[in-house]
Amino acid sequence: MSDMKQEDARTAPVGVWQVLESLRGEELTKWRLAELDNVSSVEMRNLDVLPYPFGWFMACYSDELAIGEVKPLQYFGRDLVLWRGEDGQPRLIDAYCRHLGAHMGYGGKVEGNNLVCPFHAWAYDEQGCVTDVPYAKRLPPSATKPPATQYKTCEENKAVWFWYHPYDEAPKWEVDRFDEVFNADWTEFDKHEWIVRGPIQNLAENGVDAAHFKYVHGTATFPDYQMSFDGHKRTATVEAKMGTPKGEIDGKISYGTVGPGQSWTKFSGISETLLISGVTPIAPDRIHIRFAFTQPKEEADGPMQGLAKALKKDICKQLDQDKVVWDRQKYLNRPIICDGDGPIPAFRSYFSQFYAEWEKEGKKTITSLDVDKKSD
Ligand code: FES
Ligand SMILES: [Fe+2]
Repeated sequence: MSDMKQEDARTAPVGVWQVLESLRGEELTKWRLAELDNVSSVEMRNLDVLPYPFGWFMACYSDELAIGEVKPLQYFGRDLVLWRGEDGQPRLIDAYCRHLGAHMGYGGKVEGNNLVCPFHAWAYDEQGCVTDVPYAKRLPPSATKPPATQYKTCEENKAVWFWYHPYDEAPKWEVDRFDEVFNADWTEFDKHEWIVRGPIQNLAENGVDAAHFKYVHGTATFPDYQMSFDGHKRTATVEAKMGTPKGEIDGKISYGTVGPGQSWTKFSGISETLLISGVTPIAPDRIHIRFAFTQPKEEADGPMQGLAKALKKDICKQLDQDKVVWDRQKYLNRPIICDGDGPIPAFRSYFSQFYAEWEKEGKKTITSLDVDKKSD
Protein backbone atom coordinates (compact mmCIF):
# COMPACT_ATOMS: atom_id res chain seq x y z
CA MET A 1 0.00 0.00 0.00
CA SER A 2 2.80 2.42 0.80
CA ASP A 3 4.18 1.96 -2.75
CA MET A 4 0.74 2.76 -4.14
CA LYS A 5 0.66 5.93 -2.09
CA GLN A 6 3.93 7.16 -3.50
CA GLU A 7 2.87 6.49 -7.06
CA ASP A 8 -0.50 8.12 -6.77
CA ALA A 9 0.08 11.85 -6.97
CA ARG A 10 -3.55 12.48 -6.11
CA THR A 11 -2.96 11.46 -2.53
CA ALA A 12 -0.27 14.06 -1.91
CA PRO A 13 -0.48 15.04 1.77
CA VAL A 14 -1.86 18.58 1.69
CA GLY A 15 -3.11 20.55 4.68
CA VAL A 16 -6.80 20.30 3.81
CA TRP A 17 -6.56 16.53 3.58
CA GLN A 18 -7.58 16.05 7.23
CA VAL A 19 -11.03 17.44 6.37
CA LEU A 20 -11.40 15.31 3.26
CA GLU A 21 -9.69 12.05 4.08
CA SER A 22 -12.72 10.30 5.53
CA LEU A 23 -15.08 11.38 2.73
CA ARG A 24 -15.76 8.96 -0.11
CA GLY A 25 -18.47 8.37 -2.73
CA GLU A 26 -21.94 9.35 -1.56
CA GLU A 27 -20.64 11.06 1.57
CA LEU A 28 -18.31 13.26 -0.44
CA THR A 29 -21.14 14.21 -2.81
CA LYS A 30 -23.30 15.15 0.19
CA TRP A 31 -20.50 17.18 1.78
CA ARG A 32 -20.18 19.20 -1.41
CA LEU A 33 -23.72 20.54 -0.98
CA ALA A 34 -24.19 20.32 2.79
CA GLU A 35 -24.92 23.19 5.14
CA LEU A 36 -21.91 23.85 7.35
CA ASP A 37 -21.71 24.60 11.06
CA ASN A 38 -19.49 27.22 12.59
CA VAL A 39 -19.13 29.45 9.54
CA SER A 40 -18.65 33.04 10.71
CA SER A 41 -21.03 35.76 9.60
CA VAL A 42 -20.80 37.79 6.41
CA GLU A 43 -19.73 40.82 8.48
CA MET A 44 -17.07 38.95 10.45
CA ARG A 45 -15.58 37.70 7.20
CA ASN A 46 -15.77 41.13 5.58
CA LEU A 47 -17.87 39.73 2.73
CA ASP A 48 -20.33 42.63 2.89
CA VAL A 49 -17.63 44.79 1.26
CA LEU A 50 -18.11 42.87 -2.01
CA PRO A 51 -21.27 43.52 -4.04
CA TYR A 52 -22.69 40.86 -6.36
CA PRO A 53 -20.83 41.09 -9.66
CA PHE A 54 -22.90 41.62 -12.83
CA GLY A 55 -22.86 39.24 -15.79
CA TRP A 56 -24.40 36.08 -17.23
CA PHE A 57 -25.03 33.33 -14.69
CA MET A 58 -26.18 29.76 -15.04
CA ALA A 59 -29.75 29.08 -13.94
CA CYS A 60 -29.87 25.34 -14.75
CA TYR A 61 -28.91 22.82 -17.40
CA SER A 62 -31.18 22.78 -20.45
CA ASP A 63 -32.29 19.21 -19.74
CA GLU A 64 -33.53 20.28 -16.30
CA LEU A 65 -36.21 22.50 -17.82
CA ALA A 66 -38.69 20.78 -20.11
CA ILE A 67 -41.33 22.67 -22.08
CA GLY A 68 -44.05 23.63 -19.61
CA GLU A 69 -41.82 23.07 -16.58
CA VAL A 70 -41.69 25.63 -13.73
CA LYS A 71 -38.70 25.86 -11.39
CA PRO A 72 -38.20 27.90 -8.22
CA LEU A 73 -34.68 29.36 -7.96
CA GLN A 74 -32.86 31.27 -5.24
CA TYR A 75 -30.00 33.33 -6.57
CA PHE A 76 -28.60 36.80 -5.74
CA GLY A 77 -30.57 36.78 -2.50
CA ARG A 78 -33.79 36.76 -4.52
CA ASP A 79 -36.60 34.29 -5.03
CA LEU A 80 -37.05 33.72 -8.74
CA VAL A 81 -39.20 31.57 -10.96
CA LEU A 82 -38.01 30.05 -14.22
CA TRP A 83 -40.23 28.40 -16.81
CA ARG A 84 -40.05 27.18 -20.39
CA GLY A 85 -42.86 28.29 -22.65
CA GLU A 86 -44.46 26.29 -25.43
CA ASP A 87 -42.13 28.05 -27.89
CA GLY A 88 -39.18 26.41 -26.10
CA GLN A 89 -37.83 29.69 -24.68
CA PRO A 90 -36.79 29.94 -21.01
CA ARG A 91 -38.19 32.88 -19.02
CA LEU A 92 -37.28 34.22 -15.58
CA ILE A 93 -39.09 36.70 -13.32
CA ASP A 94 -39.33 37.45 -9.60
CA ALA A 95 -41.13 34.59 -7.90
CA TYR A 96 -43.71 36.54 -5.91
CA CYS A 97 -47.00 37.24 -7.55
CA ARG A 98 -47.82 40.95 -7.68
CA HIS A 99 -51.40 40.21 -6.62
CA LEU A 100 -51.16 38.73 -3.10
CA GLY A 101 -47.63 37.45 -3.04
CA ALA A 102 -47.85 33.72 -3.79
CA HIS A 103 -44.55 32.09 -4.74
CA MET A 104 -45.21 31.05 -8.31
CA GLY A 105 -42.38 28.49 -8.37
CA TYR A 106 -44.59 26.18 -6.31
CA GLY A 107 -47.75 25.24 -8.13
CA GLY A 108 -47.48 27.78 -10.94
CA LYS A 109 -48.19 26.40 -14.39
CA VAL A 110 -47.39 27.28 -17.96
CA GLU A 111 -50.11 28.27 -20.40
CA GLY A 112 -48.83 29.06 -23.86
CA ASN A 113 -45.68 31.01 -23.13
CA ASN A 114 -46.98 32.58 -19.94
CA LEU A 115 -46.84 31.61 -16.28
CA VAL A 116 -50.06 31.30 -14.33
CA CYS A 117 -50.02 31.88 -10.57
CA PRO A 118 -51.35 28.97 -8.48
CA PHE A 119 -53.30 31.27 -6.10
CA HIS A 120 -55.84 33.17 -8.28
CA ALA A 121 -54.62 32.33 -11.81
CA TRP A 122 -53.18 35.71 -12.80
CA ALA A 123 -51.02 35.18 -15.90
CA TYR A 124 -47.55 36.68 -16.43
CA ASP A 125 -45.38 37.20 -19.48
CA GLU A 126 -41.58 37.16 -19.53
CA GLN A 127 -41.37 40.80 -18.51
CA GLY A 128 -43.44 40.17 -15.42
CA CYS A 129 -46.48 42.00 -16.85
CA VAL A 130 -49.90 40.62 -15.97
CA THR A 131 -51.62 39.57 -19.20
CA ASP A 132 -54.77 38.02 -17.83
CA VAL A 133 -56.91 37.91 -14.68
CA PRO A 134 -59.61 35.38 -15.57
CA TYR A 135 -62.20 36.70 -13.11
CA ALA A 136 -61.66 40.47 -13.58
CA LYS A 137 -63.50 42.68 -16.06
CA ARG A 138 -60.56 45.08 -16.26
CA LEU A 139 -56.85 44.48 -15.63
CA PRO A 140 -55.41 46.77 -12.94
CA PRO A 141 -53.34 49.20 -15.06
CA SER A 142 -50.24 49.02 -12.81
CA ALA A 143 -50.16 45.23 -13.15
CA THR A 144 -49.84 45.48 -16.92
CA LYS A 145 -46.65 47.55 -16.62
CA PRO A 146 -43.33 45.69 -16.32
CA PRO A 147 -41.67 45.69 -12.89
CA ALA A 148 -38.31 47.49 -12.61
CA THR A 149 -36.29 44.28 -12.40
CA GLN A 150 -36.01 42.30 -15.61
CA TYR A 151 -33.97 39.19 -16.36
CA LYS A 152 -32.79 38.45 -19.87
CA THR A 153 -32.21 34.75 -20.49
CA CYS A 154 -30.34 32.81 -23.14
CA GLU A 155 -29.52 29.20 -23.77
CA GLU A 156 -25.97 28.15 -24.63
CA ASN A 157 -23.75 25.10 -24.13
CA LYS A 158 -26.83 23.08 -23.07
CA ALA A 159 -27.51 25.42 -20.17
CA VAL A 160 -29.94 28.24 -19.39
CA TRP A 161 -28.29 31.54 -18.43
CA PHE A 162 -29.66 34.80 -17.06
CA TRP A 163 -28.22 38.30 -16.93
CA TYR A 164 -27.88 39.96 -13.53
CA HIS A 165 -27.15 43.67 -13.16
CA PRO A 166 -27.90 45.60 -9.96
CA TYR A 167 -29.17 48.62 -11.94
CA ASP A 168 -30.88 46.52 -14.63
CA GLU A 169 -28.48 47.51 -17.40
CA ALA A 170 -28.72 45.47 -20.60
CA PRO A 171 -26.25 42.61 -21.26
CA LYS A 172 -22.78 43.87 -22.16
CA TRP A 173 -21.48 40.62 -23.72
CA GLU A 174 -22.66 37.18 -24.80
CA VAL A 175 -22.12 33.76 -23.27
CA ASP A 176 -19.22 32.02 -25.07
CA ARG A 177 -20.16 28.96 -27.09
CA PHE A 178 -18.10 25.75 -27.22
CA ASP A 179 -18.55 23.52 -30.27
CA GLU A 180 -17.33 20.40 -28.43
CA VAL A 181 -20.55 20.47 -26.38
CA PHE A 182 -22.58 19.91 -29.57
CA ASN A 183 -20.15 17.49 -31.24
CA ALA A 184 -21.56 13.93 -31.48
CA ASP A 185 -18.01 12.56 -31.12
CA TRP A 186 -17.78 14.04 -27.62
CA THR A 187 -19.49 12.60 -24.53
CA GLU A 188 -22.63 13.91 -22.87
CA PHE A 189 -21.91 16.09 -19.85
CA ASP A 190 -20.53 14.46 -16.72
CA LYS A 191 -21.91 16.86 -14.09
CA HIS A 192 -20.75 17.76 -10.57
CA GLU A 193 -21.84 20.50 -8.20
CA TRP A 194 -20.83 22.27 -5.01
CA ILE A 195 -22.13 24.95 -2.68
CA VAL A 196 -19.26 27.09 -1.43
CA ARG A 197 -19.66 29.50 1.50
CA GLY A 198 -17.95 32.51 -0.04
CA PRO A 199 -18.15 35.10 -2.80
CA ILE A 200 -17.20 34.51 -6.45
CA GLN A 201 -14.17 36.75 -6.14
CA ASN A 202 -12.41 34.40 -3.70
CA LEU A 203 -13.01 31.50 -6.02
CA ALA A 204 -11.93 33.34 -9.14
CA GLU A 205 -8.76 34.59 -7.47
CA ASN A 206 -7.69 30.97 -7.10
CA GLY A 207 -6.65 30.82 -10.74
CA VAL A 208 -4.00 33.52 -10.26
CA ASP A 209 -2.88 32.30 -6.84
CA ALA A 210 0.27 30.49 -7.93
CA ALA A 211 1.49 29.38 -4.51
CA HIS A 212 -1.64 27.55 -3.36
CA PHE A 213 -1.30 24.86 -6.04
CA LYS A 214 1.53 23.29 -4.12
CA TYR A 215 0.09 23.63 -0.62
CA VAL A 216 -3.59 22.97 -1.32
CA HIS A 217 -3.41 20.67 -4.34
CA GLY A 218 -0.09 19.00 -3.67
CA THR A 219 1.52 19.77 -7.03
CA ALA A 220 5.26 19.17 -7.04
CA THR A 221 6.01 22.58 -8.51
CA PHE A 222 4.41 25.97 -8.78
CA PRO A 223 2.58 26.36 -12.10
CA ASP A 224 4.21 28.42 -14.77
CA TYR A 225 1.51 30.37 -16.54
CA GLN A 226 0.77 33.18 -18.94
CA MET A 227 -2.21 35.29 -17.98
CA SER A 228 -4.03 37.92 -19.95
CA PHE A 229 -6.91 40.21 -19.13
CA ASP A 230 -9.02 41.52 -21.98
CA GLY A 231 -12.20 43.46 -21.17
CA HIS A 232 -14.61 41.07 -19.48
CA LYS A 233 -12.43 38.06 -20.34
CA ARG A 234 -9.45 36.53 -18.64
CA THR A 235 -7.42 33.72 -20.15
CA ALA A 236 -4.40 31.77 -19.08
CA THR A 237 -2.23 28.92 -20.25
CA VAL A 238 -0.62 26.79 -17.60
CA GLU A 239 2.02 24.12 -17.94
CA ALA A 240 1.44 21.94 -14.90
CA LYS A 241 2.11 18.55 -13.43
CA MET A 242 -1.17 16.68 -13.33
CA GLY A 243 -1.84 13.98 -10.75
CA THR A 244 -2.89 10.63 -12.25
CA PRO A 245 -2.98 7.07 -10.93
CA LYS A 246 0.28 6.57 -12.81
CA GLY A 247 1.99 9.48 -11.08
CA GLU A 248 2.47 13.00 -12.33
CA ILE A 249 2.31 13.78 -16.02
CA ASP A 250 3.14 17.01 -17.83
CA GLY A 251 -0.11 18.56 -18.85
CA LYS A 252 -1.20 21.74 -20.50
CA ILE A 253 -4.21 23.62 -19.25
CA SER A 254 -5.84 26.62 -20.86
CA TYR A 255 -8.59 28.31 -19.05
CA GLY A 256 -10.67 31.38 -19.30
CA THR A 257 -13.44 33.27 -17.65
CA VAL A 258 -16.16 35.16 -19.47
CA GLY A 259 -17.32 37.68 -16.93
CA PRO A 260 -17.68 36.41 -13.36
CA GLY A 261 -20.23 33.64 -14.01
CA GLN A 262 -18.89 31.56 -16.88
CA SER A 263 -15.59 29.76 -17.10
CA TRP A 264 -14.03 27.01 -19.16
CA THR A 265 -10.92 24.86 -18.95
CA LYS A 266 -9.28 22.75 -21.63
CA PHE A 267 -6.84 20.03 -20.69
CA SER A 268 -4.46 18.41 -23.08
CA GLY A 269 -1.45 16.18 -22.66
CA ILE A 270 -3.22 13.39 -20.78
CA SER A 271 -6.69 13.16 -22.11
CA GLU A 272 -8.45 15.82 -24.10
CA THR A 273 -11.06 17.34 -21.79
CA LEU A 274 -13.30 20.38 -21.81
CA LEU A 275 -14.72 21.56 -18.52
CA ILE A 276 -17.52 24.08 -18.71
CA SER A 277 -18.45 25.70 -15.46
CA GLY A 278 -21.07 28.04 -14.15
CA VAL A 279 -20.78 29.91 -10.88
CA THR A 280 -23.93 31.59 -9.56
CA PRO A 281 -24.26 33.52 -6.28
CA ILE A 282 -27.04 32.41 -3.95
CA ALA A 283 -26.23 34.88 -1.14
CA PRO A 284 -23.22 37.06 -0.25
CA ASP A 285 -21.56 34.06 1.37
CA ARG A 286 -22.91 31.26 -0.80
CA ILE A 287 -22.20 30.29 -4.39
CA HIS A 288 -23.44 27.43 -6.53
CA ILE A 289 -20.71 25.87 -8.65
CA ARG A 290 -21.50 23.56 -11.54
CA PHE A 291 -18.87 21.56 -13.42
CA ALA A 292 -19.75 19.79 -16.69
CA PHE A 293 -17.05 17.70 -18.37
CA THR A 294 -17.01 16.48 -21.94
CA GLN A 295 -14.31 14.35 -23.58
CA PRO A 296 -13.84 12.75 -27.00
CA LYS A 297 -15.76 9.45 -26.86
CA GLU A 298 -12.81 7.51 -28.22
CA GLU A 299 -10.74 8.61 -25.24
CA ALA A 300 -13.51 8.45 -22.63
CA ASP A 301 -14.63 4.94 -23.67
CA GLY A 302 -11.45 3.60 -25.23
CA PRO A 303 -8.35 1.92 -23.80
CA MET A 304 -7.27 5.20 -22.17
CA GLN A 305 -10.53 5.62 -20.27
CA GLY A 306 -8.79 5.13 -16.91
CA LEU A 307 -6.76 8.28 -17.49
CA ALA A 308 -9.75 10.19 -18.82
CA LYS A 309 -11.70 9.37 -15.63
CA ALA A 310 -8.74 10.05 -13.35
CA LEU A 311 -8.34 13.51 -14.83
CA LYS A 312 -11.95 14.45 -14.06
CA LYS A 313 -11.64 12.98 -10.58
CA ASP A 314 -8.50 14.98 -9.92
CA ILE A 315 -10.12 18.24 -11.04
CA CYS A 316 -13.13 17.64 -8.77
CA LYS A 317 -10.79 16.78 -5.95
CA GLN A 318 -9.01 20.09 -6.46
CA LEU A 319 -12.34 21.87 -6.07
CA ASP A 320 -12.98 19.88 -2.86
CA GLN A 321 -9.59 20.98 -1.55
CA ASP A 322 -10.21 24.62 -2.43
CA LYS A 323 -13.67 24.47 -0.85
CA VAL A 324 -12.18 23.60 2.53
CA VAL A 325 -10.36 26.96 2.45
CA TRP A 326 -13.02 29.05 0.66
CA ASP A 327 -15.82 28.01 3.04
CA ARG A 328 -14.26 29.99 5.88
CA GLN A 329 -11.98 32.47 4.12
CA LYS A 330 -12.16 36.15 5.06
CA TYR A 331 -11.96 38.85 2.42
CA LEU A 332 -9.01 41.15 3.07
CA ASN A 333 -8.97 44.54 1.42
CA ARG A 334 -5.28 44.90 1.99
CA PRO A 335 -3.70 41.48 1.81
CA ILE A 336 0.04 41.28 2.31
CA ILE A 337 1.37 39.90 -0.96
CA CYS A 338 4.87 38.51 -1.52
CA ASP A 339 6.97 38.24 -4.67
CA GLY A 340 6.17 34.56 -5.22
CA ASP A 341 2.43 35.18 -5.36
CA GLY A 342 0.71 35.33 -8.73
CA PRO A 343 -0.81 38.49 -10.25
CA ILE A 344 -3.37 38.96 -7.48
CA PRO A 345 -3.51 42.80 -7.63
CA ALA A 346 -4.00 42.69 -11.42
CA PHE A 347 -6.75 40.13 -10.97
CA ARG A 348 -8.55 42.24 -8.35
CA SER A 349 -8.37 45.27 -10.54
CA TYR A 350 -9.83 43.25 -13.45
CA PHE A 351 -12.58 41.77 -11.28
CA SER A 352 -13.65 45.12 -9.81
CA GLN A 353 -15.07 46.06 -13.25
CA PHE A 354 -18.03 43.77 -12.45
CA TYR A 355 -18.98 45.74 -9.34
CA ALA A 356 -21.41 48.33 -10.68
CA GLU A 357 -21.93 49.68 -7.16
CA TRP A 358 -18.23 50.48 -6.86
CA GLU A 359 -18.27 52.30 -10.17
CA LYS A 360 -21.27 54.32 -9.03
CA GLU A 361 -19.49 55.22 -5.82
CA GLY A 362 -16.42 56.30 -7.78
CA LYS A 363 -14.21 53.41 -6.77
CA LYS A 364 -13.67 52.12 -10.28
CA THR A 365 -10.33 53.83 -10.80
CA ILE A 366 -8.79 52.48 -7.63
CA THR A 367 -7.62 48.90 -7.47
CA SER A 368 -9.56 46.90 -4.98
CA LEU A 369 -6.41 46.53 -2.89
CA ASP A 370 -6.81 50.18 -2.02
CA VAL A 371 -10.51 50.04 -1.30
CA ASP A 372 -10.46 50.11 2.44
CA LYS A 373 -13.83 50.77 3.97
CA LYS A 374 -13.15 48.52 6.90
CA SER A 375 -10.10 47.55 8.86
CA ASP A 376 -8.90 44.07 8.08
S1 FES B 1 -51.43 35.74 -5.48
FE1 FES B 1 -51.05 35.23 -7.50
S2 FES B 1 -52.94 35.37 -8.46
FE2 FES B 1 -53.34 35.96 -6.42
FE1 LIG C 1 -7.27 25.77 -6.30
